[in-house]
Amino acid sequence: MDRIRIAGGRPLEGSIAISGAKNAALPLMAAGLLTDDRLILDNVADLADLRTMAELLAQHGIAVERTLPRRLSLGGAITNTEAPYDIVRKMRASILVLGPLLARTREARVSLPGGCAIGTRPVDLHLTGLEAMGAEIKLDSGYIHATAKRGLRGAKITFPFVSVGATENLMLAASLADGETVLINAAREPEIGDLAECLNAMGSNITGMGTDRLTIIGARRLHGAQHEIIPDRIEAGTYACAAAITGGEVLLRGARSADLGAVMACLLQAGVDINETVEGLSVSRRNGLHGTDVMTEPFPGFATDMQAQFMTLMAVAEGASMITESIFENRFMHVPELSRMGARINVHGASAIVRGVPVLSGAPVMATDLRASFSLVLAGLAAKGETIVSRVYHLDRGYEHVEQKLAACGAAIERI
Ligand code: EPZ
Repeated sequence: MDRIRIAGGRPLEGSIAISGAKNAALPLMAAGLLTDDRLILDNVADLADLRTMAELLAQHGIAVERTLPRRLSLGGAITNTEAPYDIVRKMRASILVLGPLLARTREARVSLPGGCAIGTRPVDLHLTGLEAMGAEIKLDSGYIHATAKRGLRGAKITFPFVSVGATENLMLAASLADGETVLINAAREPEIGDLAECLNAMGSNITGMGTDRLTIIGARRLHGAQHEIIPDRIEAGTYACAAAITGGEVLLRGARSADLGAVMACLLQAGVDINETVEGLSVSRRNGLHGTDVMTEPFPGFATDMQAQFMTLMAVAEGASMITESIFENRFMHVPELSRMGARINVHGASAIVRGVPVLSGAPVMATDLRASFSLVLAGLAAKGETIVSRVYHLDRGYEHVEQKLAACGAAIERI
């Protein structure tokens, strides 16, 4: 298994090109199931999770080709409506094929995704929403068996709490349902708006982007389109933390401040300097970092996918920070590893108290999930001495060319 070795203490200087958003690309690839026409997606990063989604779509009959370095071309007709456990268990976002399969073929057998490191992550909101649209859902032997004999019909659905995936699954299904669907308490992440833009380019009629109320008027059929994916706001926020924790100055090319939501406010409050230019966000830190309290919330609140990275930054800030994880029930697995590097963190249920220390010390550490793995890389970049991060396959799921991007800014980092 690959490991990454970092010699810490070097300020990052230079620029980093922000790749296309992983969490926009995944539902957009699932939209390829909604038409036999060709769907072209541009600004698509080269990530393990996207290769997994391509593998899943291929066994449904949708061929996914990388026709240019950053372009995916999807085409083909659905020949199989079963999403098998051995693929779904690798990536929970596989559940996003359920809505499109049901809308197009009126039946689907999709493995239940099962839990993952950060929580049980059920899909009950996806299923109850589809039932409201006329689907019949049965669970047997670990699979969701969904049918809609008379096709899906529009419905008014209120989510009890915000779910990104459930919002996306129901947008995909509603695009081909008969009539109007209204999603209330819908997720407002930028990736939702990106999906709506693409679905509208394919012939859907979605309004309300950016609000928590989406209206989708279903079409009889959808046609092909070409869509450029938005930049990855989590990658941008992650590298902003890298520039801040090393005390360097980095231009995040393509990053957009609006996509960062409360993360921007918390970085500024912590003492990070961020200037928006036409090229992107220039991030630096001239003075000390100070402790900042954070609570993760749905967008535009502080992104849960930035919690681990921000915790590392707070580990070397002056003073204490209270970090509360309100989205997932078990997203503090980076804490024991950071503690081994000298961080002072106490977890009490959903909150962690971080008391800043002057400097962390390098150590061998182990990645446990995608974002936690980068929080260890950030610690290694700032620490005194050498850090070896193992199980970096977690990192490769969601970050493209990490060593290259960091080494180009002066980091002493290599994959071993
Ligand atoms: C998406 O996951 C992202 N993944 C996650 O990013 C992100 O952390 C999460 O949204 C929250 O922003 C993709 O977009 C592929 P949710 P998703 O449905 O859709 C519970 C990363 O690092 N819930 O908004 O699975 C759920 O357990 C990944 O890139 C139900 O109870 O998240 C969680 O506690 C990690 N029932 C909360 O809601 C449901 O039916 C939010 O989940 C659905 C969700």
